[in-house]
Amino acid sequence: MGYTVVENRHVTGRDYLLTVEAPEQEAERVEPGQFAMVQVRSRLQLDPLLRRPLGIFNLEGNRVSFLYRVYGRGTKLLTEVEAGSEIEVLMPLGNSIPQRGEKFLFIAGGIGIGGLFLAARRFKEAGKEVVVLYGERSRENLSGLPFLEEFGIEHVVYTEDGSFGKKGFVTQDLHSYTGFTWVACGPTPMMKAVKEEAARLKVECYLSLDRRMACGVGACLGCTVETVNGYKRCCVEGPVFRAEEVIL
Ligand code: FES
Repeated sequence: MGYTVVENRHVTGRDYLLTVEAPEQEAERVEPGQFAMVQVRSRLQLDPLLRRPLGIFNLEGNRVSFLYRVYGRGTKLLTEVEAGSEIEVLMPLGNSIPQRGEKFLFIAGGIGIGGLFLAARRFKEAGKEVVVLYGERSRENLSGLPFLEEFGIEHVVYTEDGSFGKKGFVTQDLHSYTGFTWVACGPTPMMKAVKEEAARLKVECYLSLDRRMACGVGACLGCTVETVNGYKRCCVEGPVFRAEEVIL
């Protein structure tokens, strides 16, 4: 379906914020942790249809935002999409982050904040205790920080070079949060560390996984995830999995 682009702006480093106007019935169906398949070129441009899976970052009425990082050709093309143009968006897709429990720790590595922010915001608004641990290489990559501050979400920032917040890795203080349900999204080494620490401390933990996706709806089998129960499709059975289920 064609969605009108409201804005597509640079935030910081290689990160951009894309906001589109969604039909009301689709915006209403969005659950935290879900994603969209977003066409990276405007409908008017004649180019092979390229889609990227992007986590739904935020929602204001019918306006749906995606915080994305430029990695390659597809995301580079997406930065060129202008406000006022139309792009194809398929959403909401995938499962969501379960809201059972009263205390949630969100562990975001880099652009992984894009898949966790909406849950942190919504759970806080529902009266849950929420803390976000947000790790990045250095200060100039902290694109999620202004949003955590704007929505008053409690957070601790870690940078590897110590240029902002605590120096070190986002996983270094996890043992201080044993009373929380953990939800993590980030690079594989970080996810492995979170999974191991959750198992060691016997904490309920979910991982929101990022996979290359061609269709986003379970048809191509291009996004499989190895689990203790066999292979699963990240786009349909995921992207959120119980940590103990996933083989990383
Ligand atoms: Fe096609 Fe998941 S992206 S099955």
